[in-house]
Amino acid sequence: MKILVAGGAGYIGTHTCVELIQAKYDVVVVDNLSNSKYDAVKRVEKITNTKIKFYQADCCDYKAMEEIFIEEKFDGIIHFAGLKCVPESVKVPLSYYNNNINSTLVLLELARKYNVRNFVFSSSATVYGNPKTLPLIEDCPLSATNPYGRTKLFIEYILEDFYNCNKDFNIAILRYFNPIGAHPSGLIGEDPNGIPNNLVPYVTQVAINKLPYLKVNGNDYPTKDGTGIRDYIHVCDLARGHVLALNKLSTNCGLVIYNLGTGLGYSVLEIIEAFNKVVGHPIPYKIVERRPGDIAACYADPTKAYKEIGFKAIYNLDDMARDAWNWQKNNPNGYNQ
Ligand code: NAD
Ligand code: UFG
Repeated sequence: MKILVAGGAGYIGTHTCVELIQAKYDVVVVDNLSNSKYDAVKRVEKITNTKIKFYQADCCDYKAMEEIFIEEKFDGIIHFAGLKCVPESVKVPLSYYNNNINSTLVLLELARKYNVRNFVFSSSATVYGNPKTLPLIEDCPLSATNPYGRTKLFIEYILEDFYNCNKDFNIAILRYFNPIGAHPSGLIGEDPNGIPNNLVPYVTQVAINKLPYLKVNGNDYPTKDGTGIRDYIHVCDLARGHVLALNKLSTNCGLVIYNLGTGLGYSVLEIIEAFNKVVGHPIPYKIVERRPGDIAACYADPTKAYKEIGFKAIYNLDDMARDAWNWQKNNPNGYNQ
C-alpha cells in the first residue's frame, strides 16, 4: 500500500513515517517545508534504513499535486499539512483558513478524481472547545474558540459532507490530545521556530539554558494543584495510532472518528516534576497570569479507539520526558546543526 503523507516532514508526520515504514507501508512525503526541514526526512531514512520519496510542494497547489497523484498512484492519504499555532491563527486568520482548508479541498478533490479512497485527517482535541464534562468522548459537543480550532472543526464538517456523497470512501478523523516526546533514537523530534508556544518544548529549552525560566500560566484553575491539566501522549504512540487507523480503513469502515489520547490528565506542575527527574536538576519557573483562551482541563476517554482499532498508549509520562529531553540534548538547535 502506497501512502501519501502530506506534511510528512513535520513533527507528527516524521514519527508516523517511521511507524508506517516499519509496518511495511510505502511512504511518499509531500511537504512545502514551511514549518520543517528536509533533514527531518533524511533522519527518518536513517532510522528506518529506507529511502523515502520526497516532493517539495504545496498541498494547496492543485496542479503540482495532480502531477504527483498521476505519478504515484496512491492507495491512501494521511493529511498532516496544516498550520498549527493558536496565537498566530488569531493574528493571521486568513492564512490559516487558506492553508488548512484549501489543502484539504485539493487533497479531497484529487482523491476523488484518482480514486484514492482511504483518507486520514489530523484533527485536534481543540474541537471540543471548553469541555463541560470530562473525560471527552467522541460524541461530546463540538465548538471552537480560535481560528486554528475553527479550521479543524470546519474540515471535520467538510469531510462529513464529502463522505455523505462519496460513500465508497473510508475516512478517519483523529482527534489528537497533546503530543509530546520524541523518537527514542533522539534523531527526530519537535523543532519549533523561535520561542516555543507549547509547554514541553519550552520546558526543555529552559532545561538546556536557552530560556531563563518557564512561565506557568495560572495556578488558580479548579484543578488538583491549580495549574492546567492536559492529556499528554507520546508522539510515537500517536504515530502508531495512524497505522491502526489505516488498517481499519482497509476494512471499508466508512467515516470513523477517534480520540488519540492516554486518558490520563497531568498538571503543569506534574510535567515540571517529571522533567526535573530526567534532567537531573530543578527547572526554574514562575507563576504568571493565565494564558487568554486556555481551558482548565482536557483529557480523553480513549475507549472507542481501543475497542475499534486496538489503540492503547504504551509510553508513560517518564518515557515522554526522557525522550523529549534526549532529543533536546542531542539537538540543541533542532535540525539546524
Ligand atoms: P508541523 O508543523 O510540525 O507539521 C506540519 C507539516 O505540514 C510541516 O512540515 C509543514 O511544513 C507542512 N505544511 C503545512 N502546510 C502545508 C501545505 N500547504 N503544503 C505542504 N505542506 C504543508 O505540525 P505537527 O505538530 O506535526 O502537526 C501535524 C498536524 O497535526 C497539523 O495538521 C496539526 O494541526 C495537527 N495537530 C497537531 C497537534 C500538536 O500539538 N502538535 C495537536 C493536534 C493536531
Ligand atoms: N503552559 C504554561 N506555560 C507555557 C506553555 C503552556 O503554563 O509556556 C500551560 C498551558 O496553560 C496549558 C498547558 O501548559 O495548561 C499545555 O499547554 P500547551 O500550549 O502545550 O498545549 P494546549 O493544550 O494549550 O494546546 C495544544 C496545541 C493545540 C491543540 C490543543 C489540543 O498547541 O494546537 O493542544 O489538541 F489544539
